[in-house]
Amino acid sequence: MWIKTLYVLWWLVLGAPAAEDRFPPNANHIFNAVHSSMRQWGSSLNHNGMSFFLASVPAGTQLYHGNSSPQPVNGTEWLAFEPEHALVFTKPFPHGPPSPDRPRGGSQILLQSAQGPEPEDDPYRRGWLHTYTTAKDLRLLYVDGMSAAKTNNGTMDSQDRILFHDKFEGRPAMQERERADLACQMAREVWNGRLDGLLRMEAGFEVILCDFGRDLNVVRVTRVKGNTKRGQRNESGGNGTGQGNELRGAMLWYKAAASRYGGIGGRRVVLNYDHFVSAFAYGLDLFRQSEDTGVMHPRLTHVSSENLEPFRQDLSRLILDHGPQEPSFDWQAIADMVVERYARDLRYMTSGQLMTMTQLQEEIENSLSPFIDYDDRNTSHEVDRCSLQFIPAEAPQEGLAAHAVRSVARSVCTTLVDVWSQSDYPMAIAQLQELTNYLSWTTWKECGKCPDNEICMVPMWPLGTIEDYKHPECRDASMPNGKGRRYWGTLPQPPTWR
Ligand SMILES: *[C@@H]1O[C@H](CO)[C@@H](O)[C@H](O)[C@H]1NC(C)=O
Ligand SMILES: *[C@@H]1O[C@H](CO)[C@@H](O)[C@H](O)[C@H]1NC(C)=O
Ligand SMILES: *[C@@H]1O[C@H](CO)[C@@H](O)[C@H](O)[C@H]1NC(C)=O
Ligand SMILES: *[C@@H]1O[C@H](CO)[C@@H](O)[C@H](O)[C@H]1NC(C)=O
Ligand SMILES: *[C@@H]1O[C@H](CO)[C@@H](O)[C@H](O)[C@H]1NC(C)=O
Repeated sequence: MWIKTLYVLWWLVLGAPAAEDRFPPNANHIFNAVHSSMRQWGSSLNHNGMSFFLASVPAGTQLYHGNSSPQPVNGTEWLAFEPEHALVFTKPFPHGPPSPDRPRGGSQILLQSAQGPEPEDDPYRRGWLHTYTTAKDLRLLYVDGMSAAKTNNGTMDSQDRILFHDKFEGRPAMQERERADLACQMAREVWNGRLDGLLRMEAGFEVILCDFGRDLNVVRVTRVKGNTKRGQRNESGGNGTGQGNELRGAMLWYKAAASRYGGIGGRRVVLNYDHFVSAFAYGLDLFRQSEDTGVMHPRLTHVSSENLEPFRQDLSRLILDHGPQEPSFDWQAIADMVVERYARDLRYMTSGQLMTMTQLQEEIENSLSPFIDYDDRNTSHEVDRCSLQFIPAEAPQEGLAAHAVRSVARSVCTTLVDVWSQSDYPMAIAQLQELTNYLSWTTWKECGKCPDNEICMVPMWPLGTIEDYKHPECRDASMPNGKGRRYWGTLPQPPTWR
């Protein structure tokens, strides 16, 4: 923890050059991690998660598991929050029965599509959907971003380098059974049984639960629908090419994932925002440009093990010293109010629709007027009032989220006050643009309202295109994959990921 303290002190006391004063490095990224936590939308865009949170799932919550066996699971396995996500796993793999280390993530849908027509309907190819409820409040470690996406694009950096201490170094991404077993061994031996499993996201949120028999009650196990006969395959989006069932599966799966863009819902997961850890808090140089998209994403691959050690130790301390169930302040709710208050205003101001400095100033004054005492103008008071608008007096002063949310609110307010006093229009727009680049709010990429049969498609492993990342658009839910260059590259072929 001392490195973090030093870093925050450095922030506060030594200060930094002017731009860093207005836009403190990484406060934006920590703010966005809090804002996107447990949300499919923001976590798909910021897919390389750099933070770990303690999470609890209340007793009685329904969770789903897909299997080729009707036998209730006892031991370590995977659970989905949405049944449509679990359905993906009810089909055995195209080549023989599933092995214990079969990869999770359902790219078999696409592999099967790629391999052409399915054989005739075979009843033994149909699996079972298991419905469970949690027998107690689950205590989980949430690995943020799209941390269940089996890619080499950085989605697994934080778990492989921090959580698993490089134990999977140089091995392919598809080591899912090993990851699960190691996480559960650590839960028992290193963390003294203080955790019941991991919480991650791919297209849909999932839990790796260490002990099904202990922590779940079986509600029911039901047989899933088999392959439709050849002649009926074109019924739901299929095209007489033998892909009807796979397309239906992908449609249900991606629609269910997209329904959680705004959050997992129902308070099915509660995070501890007072105590969490993030790679953004250690002054490390993390961002690297993707060769294929030109987009900057944080990576941990280039950081030396030595420089990651303080983060690893803080993660251990987090798990050993804190609990998912301890009461904590809901910083995500505060971040939401800041984003909802300013996202549209800022986009409007930088849109070019306000064409003169006077028009721009009027718009800014409208935005700031509640914080102005027109009998006693004082910009430093105005910035304070604006920055503190959404922060309750009782909110914690300390902690990563407390610092980041306060800091980002202040960056917005300081910039608005500064720009108001500008006389140069291009300069004013440049300052606002610098702010919006810094904020990088994921809400700015939302499609707006899509027709009922469409989803706003953003790459969610294993589907999506580069264009979907840059400019997400409404897309017919029966064709989530889109056409064009694949965002995640080509899918690995079975031998390398089994
Ligand atoms: C699960 O396995 C454990 C140990 O092997 C056993 O004690 C327990 O009764 C089993 N639970 C269920 C629900 O089968
Ligand atoms: C495809 O579906 C339509 C109904 O939507 C049906 O009339 C047609 O016969 C089907 N085509 C094939 C090749 O199965
Ligand atoms: C159906 O197949 C044809 C030819 O393979 C293709 O051009 C068309 O886009 C497909 N339609 C759908 C809805 O997939
Ligand atoms: C604004 O208020 C601060 C603190 O109360 C004070 O130090 C400063 O002089 C005031 N500035 C102006 C321009 O009145
Ligand atoms: C992800 O990695 C694959 C394989 O290296 C590559 O083809 C693809 O373009 C990468 N995607 C991004 C967004 O960097």
